Amino acid sequence: MIDDVAQKLANIKTKAVAEFFSLQNDAEIEKWRVKYLGRKGALSALFEEIGKFRTEERQYLGKAANELKKELEEKLRAASDRTKSHGKGEESFDETAPGIPVPRGTKHPLTQFTDRICAVFTSMGFEIVEDREVEKVEYNFDKLNMPDNHPARDMWDTFYIKSQIPPANGMFHEVVLRTHTSPVQLRAMETRKPPVRLVVPGRCYRHDATDASHETGFYQLEGLVIDKGVSVANMIYVLDSVLKRLFGNFVKIRIRPSFFPFVEPGHEIDMSCMICEQKGCSVCSKTGWLEMMGSGMVHPVVLNNMGVDSELYTGFAFGMGIDRLMMLYYGVDDIRLSYSGDLRFLKQF
Ligand code: PHE
Repeated sequence: MIDDVAQKLANIKTKAVAEFFSLQNDAEIEKWRVKYLGRKGALSALFEEIGKFRTEERQYLGKAANELKKELEEKLRAASDRTKSHGKGEESFDETAPGIPVPRGTKHPLTQFTDRICAVFTSMGFEIVEDREVEKVEYNFDKLNMPDNHPARDMWDTFYIKSQIPPANGMFHEVVLRTHTSPVQLRAMETRKPPVRLVVPGRCYRHDATDASHETGFYQLEGLVIDKGVSVANMIYVLDSVLKRLFGNFVKIRIRPSFFPFVEPGHEIDMSCMICEQKGCSVCSKTGWLEMMGSGMVHPVVLNNMGVDSELYTGFAFGMGIDRLMMLYYGVDDIRLSYSGDLRFLKQF
């Protein structure tokens, strides 16, 4: 007897499942539901029969019948979902399926390092200023104390382009892709009065042959501080602190005299090589020192060009190559990698 009911149960299951796959529309689904799950359906009849058994048998068969009921109810839900989406002519959409992952990019290592340097300077009260990359020769050279034909212009040899727009005085002004960020010293002072403390990150261009440490386009960070009584001592303190904040407290700096027409006196700032800890390696050419930046006290001629009274105010300026600092920081040995767009390089940062 019990076997009969178990067999019936198995038959209902086989038939219901087989029929389920051919259901096309709501009407057919409803028919199927009534046939198997309805009040007078196959399962109800089965439950009635089961009710006549002894407790233990009833429990056993009841459990099996309930499981089948659950399974058929689930199928019913799936079937109506299926016809619903078919009916609207849409593809079925499973909102619980994992999506297609969108790869996330990161900032370029140069941008990351620029952000780091700027964060150090902002914490010391510096303002961040940005300006144009296509610059008048007047700002790139003349106002920086390098008049036409001054031999110092050779240090920043570049391509000169004549502007197509005749200026008011009838002379065509010449423009260049700026060869350093120093012209922004003058641009910034057109809208500011001392005291000022500012840094200028930005792209520069030079007529350079490309190799592992030279590119035709690169990034600089210019700095300018003007106030009453500013001295070389202030400059050394600021630059020493910045390099220590960037590379670690153990680094030392060294100052060498140098020449830039827009500063007097001019200096080159070196940092102790943190790669070999001054034992001598290929990065520091076995000298133990790394050239970090040019700097100096702003030349009185330049202060006057800025409209600043050079009798009252003094200032210092510096210019560092962001590419070089970034390369030292991350241990990158070829500047060209930065501009290659090679994802194998970029994904490491
Ligand atoms: N502009 C100089 C260069 O590109 C660097 C510099 C900036 C030097 C400010 C002194 C003061 O080499």
